[in-house]
Amino acid sequence: MSGMELVLILAESAVELVPPELTKHPSILKLAKKRGKKPSEILLDRSYHHAAMRSLKDAEKRGRPDIVHTTLLELLGTPLNREGLLQTYVHTVDNKVVEIDSNVRLPVNYDRFVGLLEQLYAVGKVPEAGQPLLAIRKQTLNQLLGEIKPSTTVAFTTLGEYKDLSRLCEELTKERKPAILIGGFPRGHFSKETLNLADRVVRIDREALEAWVVASRAVYAYELAIGLPKQRLR
Ligand SMILES: C[S@@+](CC[C@H](N)C(=O)[O-])C[C@H]1O[C@@H](n2cnc3c(N)ncnc32)[C@H](O)[C@@H]1O
Repeated sequence: MSGMELVLILAESAVELVPPELTKHPSILKLAKKRGKKPSEILLDRSYHHAAMRSLKDAEKRGRPDIVHTTLLELLGTPLNREGLLQTYVHTVDNKVVEIDSNVRLPVNYDRFVGLLEQLYAVGKVPEAGQPLLAIRKQTLNQLLGEIKPSTTVAFTTLGEYKDLSRLCEELTKERKPAILIGGFPRGHFSKETLNLADRVVRIDREALEAWVVASRAVYAYELAIGLPKQRLR
């Protein structure tokens, strides 16, 4: 079934280490102490750092690693991924890219997922020795797309024209290497730079849905378009 692979990029995702301007804030110092880490070694997380984040630029798009956690759990468990036909990347708001081996089993527990990401930021890959299951590098979305070289890139956003998802996925099956961009953030929109990287910008519902709902539907629609459910029963 080669040639049917889908690339899914969670773009501008709300994952980053606590930025330098917040490392002295009491709520950050408290959590860092509790976790036995330096403030600069812990992930920014709105559920703990809400007060500290008030002064932060673009705060509405930052500090939500739970979005990436839930979406990755959903994506990695799909039949498309189990068939090795889904390549997932997380691009972050501070221009890092996490490359994910489709065989990785992520912790279901959120605190353990956060610990894993903090380890990844500290050492660059997990596990440290041998073939990495997760690897992080400094890279812009533009550079990532330049490396993947998709034949078409579709950005999902409520700013786009409405498109029936099953029809879109049928069109994508004719592509050599289609890529979908979904925002890994809770509110706000893709930057102009991100929108400019897309060949198409589509909206799939009247409302803004959560990233994991959109990712889940896109993958299922793509599975149907390539006939995967039937193929897996043969
Ligand atoms: C919680 S939303 C972010 C909200 C953003 N204001 C928006 O309207 O797209 C997270 C991501 O899910 C995707 N998304 C959510 N609702 C969508 C829709 N109706 N159509 C297309 N994509 C959608 C987009 O990629 C978005 O960046």
